[in-house]
Amino acid sequence: MKKIWIGTSWKMNKDAASAASWAAAVEQAVERSDGRVQPFVIPPFPYLSQMAQTINAEAIQLGAQNMCWQDSGAFTGEVSPLMLKDCGVSIVEIGHSERRAMFGETDNTVNLKVLAALKHGLTPLVCVGDTADEKKWSVSVESVVRQVKIALFDVPFDKVTDVILAYEPVWAIGEGGTPATKEEAETVHRAIRDALVECYGQETADSVVLLYGGSVNLTNASELLDQVNIDGVFVGRTAWDAEGYVELLSIANSKLEH
Ligand code: PGA
Repeated sequence: MKKIWIGTSWKMNKDAASAASWAAAVEQAVERSDGRVQPFVIPPFPYLSQMAQTINAEAIQLGAQNMCWQDSGAFTGEVSPLMLKDCGVSIVEIGHSERRAMFGETDNTVNLKVLAALKHGLTPLVCVGDTADEKKWSVSVESVVRQVKIALFDVPFDKVTDVILAYEPVWAIGEGGTPATKEEAETVHRAIRDALVECYGQETADSVVLLYGGSVNLTNASELLDQVNIDGVFVGRTAWDAEGYVELLSIANSKLEH
């Protein structure tokens, strides 16, 4: 059985003290978790080293919210894969819709970052999603599959399963977002899985971890996790508060009891 992934990105939130108290509260719950639940946390860059020192990397994986595809050089304001590794990071989030919409991230730069992450042994967590207009025009699947195929361009066959994909509808994310229904989420997840089958074959496609993100909360997490092609959830607001995150872990743990 695949693991159930429960992750959060803090986006541009928290400070050193609130990061420390979140880690302390979550650490105990993580220790009690079934090993088949895989927690991860993605703080802002300045707190990565602090988090690496406080959390047990075996139990909860540490991620970064972005990275440059270059190893080093004259790239002011950027952070390289080697620097992330130095800070104890194992996952790098790539292509979140906030970065695509506000900071010029494109399908092409997402692909360069995926290749760079894999080259350095980091797990790329690639976010893909349809806009509200694309949903209205009924081209959600086309838009998302296109993003997936470009993100994975030139990824060696044996590395595809090292990539995590997160379907995050732009219309579902953040304040004012409407969570996807379990049917809407599963439809797109199935389409992503089918595209992976087409490109890499069934066995490889089945091994790729597909997460759902966008207004996941303590009410809808359970039914989302019940979907065949949803291997976990990637959560913002609900998980910023340690209690919310711990509750998500226990929902995931309860799935494994049956
Ligand atoms: P949200 O954020 O859970 O606050 O909607 C999700 C995300 O952006 O990944």
